[in-house]
Amino acid sequence: MPTTASRPRPTRIDALPPFPEGWYLIATRESIEKKRLIEKTWMGEQIVAWCDETGAICVADAFCPHLGSHMGPTVGGRVRDGCLVCPFHGFTFDTTGQCVATPNAPAPKAARLKVYRTREILGLIFAWWGTGGRPPQWDLPEEPAAGPKWSRVLTTTLRFRGHPQETTENSVDVEHLEYTHGYSNVRPTEMAIDGAYLKSAFDFTSVRRTAGLFDVVADVSAVAHVHGLGFSFVEIHEKGIGMHSRMWVLSTPVDGTFVELTLATQVHEIRKPGQFFKGLGFLPVSLRHRLMARLFISEERRYVEQDVVIWDRKRYRSPPRLCQADGPIGKYRLYCRQFYPDLQLRVTPPSRIGLAKTVERPAHQGQA
Ligand code: FES
Ligand SMILES: [Fe+2]
Repeated sequence: MPTTASRPRPTRIDALPPFPEGWYLIATRESIEKKRLIEKTWMGEQIVAWCDETGAICVADAFCPHLGSHMGPTVGGRVRDGCLVCPFHGFTFDTTGQCVATPNAPAPKAARLKVYRTREILGLIFAWWGTGGRPPQWDLPEEPAAGPKWSRVLTTTLRFRGHPQETTENSVDVEHLEYTHGYSNVRPTEMAIDGAYLKSAFDFTSVRRTAGLFDVVADVSAVAHVHGLGFSFVEIHEKGIGMHSRMWVLSTPVDGTFVELTLATQVHEIRKPGQFFKGLGFLPVSLRHRLMARLFISEERRYVEQDVVIWDRKRYRSPPRLCQADGPIGKYRLYCRQFYPDLQLRVTPPSRIGLAKTVERPAHQGQA
């Protein structure tokens, strides 16, 4: 048995590695189909994404395996018959990444793009980022049921200096809900960890100015389902008006300094609209529904902008000097360590230190 003197000391991390392993948003299917070919900097890499006629989406390294041209649309790359055509010598790649044609010779078999594994959830396209290129270590949840009573998914994106671990920490940092966002009666109800999945639930009260017409005192229950640092799915229930909504909070490192945080939202038809939305009562249900989704997402963006001011200038503190009123930030930090497999940290994984609790998850939250 090691003595106290020989026991390894806990390792500090003073700066977070910029690209934790996980699933990260690429773009919406709608935007890829509309632009036909997109290019972006994602997880410090230059990537391209396009879609073929069958709907298959390819997310790939932007540089051609022939002689290295960038193949994004700003350089002249284009999609022809569902294949990406390099602007330099015309090598053509299908959505598996395989070179299938060149202008004047048979396609070399070895000419293959580096492609990323993708998942789609309600038109949001994600790709897996594995440390050292390793394959997915866990899957994203199943797509939640959607139907005519749910609005279409709306998105809005903010860009700032930040890190996905810092943005996701919001889910367990219950103190800031009161202090930064002005919520009251914040009551954490559950926090559980199961491998790459973390559940954080809390109730609170907030005052919302709806449609600029009147204040609504909302009694809210929120459940955040976190699947790694790039994907949080939040179910929100405002009890007074019976309003259910969903929000995906999708934090994606761009280049090691900036992150893009996309909020994606869906609102369910309101059960008792007359009680609180008299000012909108003259609108047809579908229009009122769409308007509510827009109001909701702009309201959520306004709340997140309050965080962005902090995130953009903050510094990572490890260890943080916590007080008794803080939420389970320490447990969250242990949970996060699994996403940096390169770090040789002598820390017992959270699932083995009694934090794990069997979590009853709704069917759509099941992991593969
Ligand atoms: S560099 Fe792409 S075809 Fe030559
Ligand atoms: Fe926040």
